[in-house]
Amino acid sequence: MLSARFTADGSFSLHSDSFAESFHSSDGALEEANSKFVLPAQLDRFPDGRDLRVLDVCFGLGYNTAALMSALPHRGGPSLQCWGLELDRAPLRLALAEPTFQALWPPHVVACLGALSAEGCWQDSDRQQSVQMLWGDARQQLRQLPADGRFDLIFLDAFSPSKCPQLWSEEFLQSLADLLAPSGRLLTYCRAAAVRNSLRHAGLALRSLLPKSREGSAWSAGTLALRPSDDHQPCPVIGPGWRGLSAMEEEHLQTCAGVPYRDPTGTDSAALILNRRQQEQAFADRPSTSAWQRKWQGGEFRRSY
Ligand SMILES: C[S@@+](CC[C@H](N)C(=O)[O-])C[C@H]1O[C@@H](n2cnc3c(N)ncnc32)[C@H](O)[C@@H]1O
Repeated sequence: MLSARFTADGSFSLHSDSFAESFHSSDGALEEANSKFVLPAQLDRFPDGRDLRVLDVCFGLGYNTAALMSALPHRGGPSLQCWGLELDRAPLRLALAEPTFQALWPPHVVACLGALSAEGCWQDSDRQQSVQMLWGDARQQLRQLPADGRFDLIFLDAFSPSKCPQLWSEEFLQSLADLLAPSGRLLTYCRAAAVRNSLRHAGLALRSLLPKSREGSAWSAGTLALRPSDDHQPCPVIGPGWRGLSAMEEEHLQTCAGVPYRDPTGTDSAALILNRRQQEQAFADRPSTSAWQRKWQGGEFRRSY
């Protein structure tokens, strides 16, 4: 069951009863797409005529792809080839029925979302842009992606690890990392230690998305994971909306929270994956996450920025 809600920036979103979670942060669905996915992607790295290959994992209402398309130049710009992975067709259908959602986007983006909902694909040869949906469980649909060419950008926007651990497992994240082109970037709102450890284990360099406010628990707004370039140049340490991990964040990865989610066959249920991780945590020789929280909650926490 999905219910409609409006977020703080006025943009339309949904809440899922089956996952017991909202689709977007209450700050704003559009704000989140722009600040956590489009800005750190640095689209100006892709000049006119160059291919830009994007994979949008958990397409939902389509905010991340729509915000990316809206941010590309109206004329010229890279040639966009985008794939969306999504289990449920209802979020996009519900969004398109909401006039304020349609009003957020330029006409070609509304046309694209409409075609994706009706036919699962869209192409604009004048703009050299195409988007293709693969409906179903992303773990299986990943195999249907074209074998040629890897992705410059992967947006990972699943429900949180405790609600949807299937899409945060070490194995799934390794598969996504393997799909990244040299200098490719995986972006997610998630800052969980388990997820960061799995991305690092998959050979990616980690960066932290800057929170809007640096108060309280807002120590990171998510993660940027970079595949090194072919010429082994060091990955940039800071960029628009991101910076290297702080000492506090590095220490977080060593705690019990850093034990990864495991789904060896790519078919396990959420309950089985969570249970398996709990057992591994019980025997893990790692510092407790609550001790880490206590250590960093005072002045040191603020000074780390
Ligand atoms: C947080 S929402 C995504 C929000 C979306 N990026 C947007 O801009 O609206 C998570 C999405 O993951 C989808 N989902 C859940 N489990 C999935 C799975 N195993 N494979 C693919 N999609 C899944 C849900 O249907 C939901 O649309």
